[in-house]
Amino acid sequence: MPTVAGGLEGVVFTETGVCFIDGTVGHLLYRGYDIQDVAEHLSFEEVAYLLWLGKLPNRQELETLHGQFAAERDIPSIAYDVIDALPPNTVPMDGLRTVVSFLSGTDPELDDNSADANYRKAVRLTAKAPTIMAAVHRRHFGLDPVIPQPTGSLAYNFLYMLSGQEPDEFVAQTLDVALTLHAEHGMNASTFAGRVTVATLADMYAGVTSAIGALKGPLHGGANAVVLKMLQEIGDPDHARDYVNNVISGDYVVPGMAPRRVPGFGHRVYKAFDPRAIVLRGMSKKLGERAGDSRWVDISNAVVEACAAAGLNEKGIYPNVDFFSASSYYTMGIPESLFTPVFAIARMTGWTAHIIEQQSDNRLIRPRADYIGEKGLKVVPIDQR
Ligand SMILES: CC(C)(COP(=O)(O)OP(=O)(O)OC[C@H]1O[C@@H](n2cnc3c(N)ncnc32)[C@H](O)[C@@H]1OP(=O)(O)O)[C@@H](O)C(=O)NCCC(=O)NCCS
Repeated sequence: MPTVAGGLEGVVFTETGVCFIDGTVGHLLYRGYDIQDVAEHLSFEEVAYLLWLGKLPNRQELETLHGQFAAERDIPSIAYDVIDALPPNTVPMDGLRTVVSFLSGTDPELDDNSADANYRKAVRLTAKAPTIMAAVHRRHFGLDPVIPQPTGSLAYNFLYMLSGQEPDEFVAQTLDVALTLHAEHGMNASTFAGRVTVATLADMYAGVTSAIGALKGPLHGGANAVVLKMLQEIGDPDHARDYVNNVISGDYVVPGMAPRRVPGFGHRVYKAFDPRAIVLRGMSKKLGERAGDSRWVDISNAVVEACAAAGLNEKGIYPNVDFFSASSYYTMGIPESLFTPVFAIARMTGWTAHIIEQQSDNRLIRPRADYIGEKGLKVVPIDQR
């Protein structure tokens, strides 16, 4: 009899050189580099290069990548038409998924799954994601899209395209660090979805479209927006303990979250404090101090204490990457509807690195399910049922 691993927990289906996680001690490496070191010393563009090519770029290689990103940032005019045609209720994640899928028809290398062509497609998709996101967001408010600049980082350009104004340099640098922290995370649900798709030898756009769909849910990337809702509902650090206790007891369900779950807490792999949450906690504090409004980080810290007091830490449940992202993004002025899309923009690098890895040594991914239904039934003619 096969052993059923619910949620595929603990199942190893491949070897990877992209990312290492030891969740018992909260240890995360991108291609061998510790996440604290990465967050402190590397730009998002350097991280993209590292994830795709397995080594840090030298100055010239980085400049070349900046040039490639700049050249690929804008989207074809027919993609702006698609954005205009999106039904008014389309949320940004669905807008991103739709436009990425649409762009497959514009990529001359769509069916070339070689490592070189996949690298170029990864650059294209990563460069275009912020442009799509900003245009979808502005369209929702009846505003024309802002065309990306040929200079500046991806983080800078995203903020610029959202508002049409030069962004604050500190906020752009902080967003760059946040993107770096979200770039990659092993065999998470969306990356797995992407790898499953391209393991059929479907193209990178198909894989990324699957991945965006999987990231949307509140048990994965959608959690950061739900965290903000919770912080707003709590409203004051003094209310955190009662709120958290009500959620854990099941007396109250946070809107958009599963019952008895505190959004932004818990992880399939981490049973210790997520190392990314440590960096984001510091970021959230700094942003709050700079904005003269520490309310959101204060409420967040009160939730962390309330969860510890309720015994969640003993069960290995600590804040994950989404928890302090919420207060950070909110204080940066990023609209709540874009919290999960920001995650997607960053994770485009990790998804595509895994797609390149999958297709460099591919085997169809095809698990089994343990059948528990009936057997031996005979079809009854329709007029006798
Ligand atoms: C991420 C997540 C889906 C992982 O789920 P999982 O690995 O399948 O974990 P399980 O559902 O098996 O939970 C294990 C135990 O921890 C508890 N738990 C897990 N996450 C919890 C949370 N956020 N709040 C309270 N309790 C939680 C479960 O109730 C369960 O307790 P039990 O053994 O007493 O029944 C889950 O932790 C969660 O829903 N977190 C909230 C959403 C979130 O922040 N997602 C972003 C992840 S980066």
